[in-house]
Amino acid sequence: MATTDLSPSQPVRVHDARGAPAGPGRSCLRSVESFLPLTMGTVRSLTIALRVLPAIVAVAMLAAGCQPTVRVRGEAATVGAGLGQQRVLRPLVEGAPAFKPSAARGQATFERVCAVCHGDQGYGDGPAAAGLTSPHKNPLTDFFALWGIRIRGEKIPSRPANFHNQIAMRLNAPWVLFETIKLGRPHTAMPAFGRKPAYGAIKGPATLTDEQIWDVLFYAWTFSTTPQTIARGREIYQSRALEIGGGRTATCADCHGPAGDGRGGRLSEEMGARVWGWREGVGAGIFTDATFLAARKPTELFQRIADGRGLMPAYRGTLDEDEIWALVDYVRTFMYEYAPPRGQQP
Ligand code: HEC
Ligand code: HEC
Repeated sequence: MATTDLSPSQPVRVHDARGAPAGPGRSCLRSVESFLPLTMGTVRSLTIALRVLPAIVAVAMLAAGCQPTVRVRGEAATVGAGLGQQRVLRPLVEGAPAFKPSAARGQATFERVCAVCHGDQGYGDGPAAAGLTSPHKNPLTDFFALWGIRIRGEKIPSRPANFHNQIAMRLNAPWVLFETIKLGRPHTAMPAFGRKPAYGAIKGPATLTDEQIWDVLFYAWTFSTTPQTIARGREIYQSRALEIGGGRTATCADCHGPAGDGRGGRLSEEMGARVWGWREGVGAGIFTDATFLAARKPTELFQRIADGRGLMPAYRGTLDEDEIWALVDYVRTFMYEYAPPRGQQP
């Protein structure tokens, strides 16, 4: 029987009967297979001893290249008792279920360890930015290193991310950025700030705790919006009564609650009775469920507001695109403490 588990950072994964993930391993094998004939052809002209090379390379690639680099899967825990029991995902910070990241706290860390590459206003133009190259560490260079041979490959330039780039930032879910900061990004100059870098990434100049990573992540995040946008989102969310069908009008806060926790709005009780998880304060529509919201990309939230789903009304046509983006940025502030970053006036 196949079972399914939900993780915050990845699509649904299917496990086979023995519990081995069915997806990534196989696709990895496939890529090794397509690589083999090419290597064979080159090696055949060499000595007999070298014929084993492809096999060794393949094993090295499988061992190194197919290692999962993602360690942020939310492990299920069980809370409550009897029928009230439910499975919840691991909180942002283990042992601190109520941890709320703060952009203001993150600023000091950012300016101390990130600004040298990303720039103190997050444009990706720090003093070290221009000279960065990729670490050039991969199964092939590692393989030759075993024999003491250092391959000096091309030095590929690696440019720090510009956090004002809304096209990139709107496709990023916080969990993915958390992983990038904690493990580094393989084959780029983005180093790891957790204890252990991912394969192919380098260790950063400092080691940060999970709390510090969340804080600095959301400080970087604030460069992609403005205080004016957040204020505009707040105004619509809290006080603009809009058509929701059936001749009724409501504000966002009427259902989602003024604090985004699904409580205290005129229609919150009704939602609590009809939507799974709403009463327990978890799942879709509960913006204080940080573990859940951290898996959502801004583009996904945009689509939910524009097209609706279930009891969530569709606002395409009622709100324009800028208004929906302002709501996306505002809704996010229910999971972290917003503060304007350097270079932006409230
Ligand atoms: C040595 C230079 C360097 C330092 C220091 C550095 N970064 Fe980076 N960072 C990079 C580079 C280069 C990239 C682009 C990686 C790529 O090409 O995908 C990057 C990418 C990122 C990304 C991914 C953005 C995206 O759109 O996918 C995030 C998030 C990030 N950095 C955050 C940080 C934070 C937070 C710090 C400080 C704790 C930091 N970086 C320190 C060089 C650096
Ligand atoms: C009639 C009640 C109601 C109103 C009014 C309402 N919502 Fe919702 N909203 C919901 C429900 C219920 C869900 C959960 C839908 C589901 O099951 O996926 C939801 C889901 C969402 C989601 C998706 C969350 C996720 O991670 O999947 C977003 C974003 C959202 N609402 C934002 C808004 C905004 C912004 C407004 C105001 C413009 C608004 N909602 C107005 C009931 C409402």
